[in-house]
Amino acid sequence: MDRSSQISAIALLGLLSACGGEEGYTLQQVMYQVEYEEQAIEAALETGDLATVASSATAMGRWCADPSFAAEVQTRSFTGDADQFLALRADFLGRIDRLASAASSGDAALTMQGYAALRMACEVCHARFRPEL
Ligand code: HEC
Repeated sequence: MDRSSQISAIALLGLLSACGGEEGYTLQQVMYQVEYEEQAIEAALETGDLATVASSATAMGRWCADPSFAAEVQTRSFTGDADQFLALRADFLGRIDRLASAASSGDAALTMQGYAALRMACEVCHARFRPEL
């Protein structure tokens, strides 16, 4: 399996367990969904499909609104600065929303800016909290 089919298989598992009413995702599970939507956004941008960008950004926002993202700071493996992590998450949610609105409005230039801003948030948080990525 290549990496993207691995990720969609994991995304599918995530969806199935979501439908089963299971709760309490790990941050890693949330991140796989984020990665899945990020790849969908990247592919849609290449073809100028702003409707897909909007729906994938909205889906990403729903995953990141999941409490398990914020609950990361309460796990035993979390050793970083909790306030900083939560601030980066809040900033990330704002960038996801701005990307979704830009894409829904059909403004291609603003959508590209929103996507670049989103990517930067991934990198900043990983550099601080997951440097091995
Ligand atoms: C606020 C912090 C934060 C933001 C923003 C963030 N991540 Fe992450 N990400 C993490 C942390 C922490 C982990 C490690 C999770 C774990 O393994 O428990 C991680 C792990 C990952 C992983 C690896 C999962 C694995 O273990 O194989 C991927 C892929 C990923 N993130 C993608 C993204 C993408 C794409 C974005 C932006 C669209 C993003 N993340 C934004 C904090 C963040």
